[in-house]
Amino acid sequence: MGAQFPVQIHRALAESKGTYLITEKSALLSRKVALVTGAARGIGKGIAQQLGANGATVVLADIDVEAGQKTARELTESGVQTSFIETDVRSEAVVAAAMTHAEAQFGGLDILVNNAGANLNFDATTMTSNEWDESMALDLRGAWLCCKHVLPKMLVRGGGVIINISSIHANATSYNFFPYAAAKAGLIGMTKSLALDWGKKNIRVLAVSPGLVKSDAVVKAFADPEHSLTEASAAASIPAGFVALPEDIGGLVAFLATDAARYITGTNIVIDGGQSARLADA
Ligand SMILES: NC(=O)c1ccc[n+]([C@@H]2O[C@H](COP(=O)([O-])OP(=O)(O)OC[C@H]3O[C@@H](n4cnc5c(N)ncnc54)[C@H](O)[C@@H]3O)[C@@H](O)[C@H]2O)c1
Repeated sequence: MGAQFPVQIHRALAESKGTYLITEKSALLSRKVALVTGAARGIGKGIAQQLGANGATVVLADIDVEAGQKTARELTESGVQTSFIETDVRSEAVVAAAMTHAEAQFGGLDILVNNAGANLNFDATTMTSNEWDESMALDLRGAWLCCKHVLPKMLVRGGGVIINISSIHANATSYNFFPYAAAKAGLIGMTKSLALDWGKKNIRVLAVSPGLVKSDAVVKAFADPEHSLTEASAAASIPAGFVALPEDIGGLVAFLATDAARYITGTNIVIDGGQSARLADA
């Protein structure tokens, strides 16, 4: 397949309404089946939309049934073949069943996006072992469990792509973010090692590290008077001059999932509007 940028979206409405308009569908991912964890909302939803806009069938795997089913309805209405599977990525049995269900429903699995995750603030002296384990179970172990149960299915298909959603916190972080920073750095290490292990089996493994993205949690923080960060102050600190939308991350993930990116594996791609290029006082 020749290299062709796959994202068929227009930013026409972005300035006025802060949203994207999918104007035409691309077929670059047609006949591909993708599973996205944490796809009910936020970045995962943006990824699911963009994979679908490029022709993929998209399985939405999320712990939140109500929001997941709502997103599935929206995607179906926009012409994307989709289904929702209630999934808690912290449970191996649940992950295994979700992968098997998705494979049975759509005949295979070609693309896995490990997106489910959350960042909570902790003090190293008061965080409990249990809280640490819970944090790692969601932000790191869940991605490995999904890889464990999808890799044999990708082998059956003759190849695949795994994209792990890390964060710029893997590289430079904030106060009291240490479990999140550790997990996100761990995801990048896992990505590199799995890329070595599976590259010759035609399975690419990549990490994507977003900067600040306007997901639901971030929108809520912007609106919270107790929170010092506003959208305007955040945008002013980002060289691109605006805060990314979930679809911005989705566009990159959709591109990375296509054959146009066939030589990209075992690496981490930062998508942050230049945020991490800037010193605090620059
Ligand atoms: N928003 C940002 O600024 C930002 C920046 C960099 C990286 N990230 C990463 O992107 C990913 C998505 O973040 P977001 O901001 O869209 O978050 P979000 O809170 O808006 O969405 C997370 C989704 O994951 C689901 N989820 C939570 N626990 C789950 C579990 N155990 N099993 C399955 N699904 C579960 C939630 O129900 C929700 O739908 C996370 O890994 C996050 O660390 C976010």
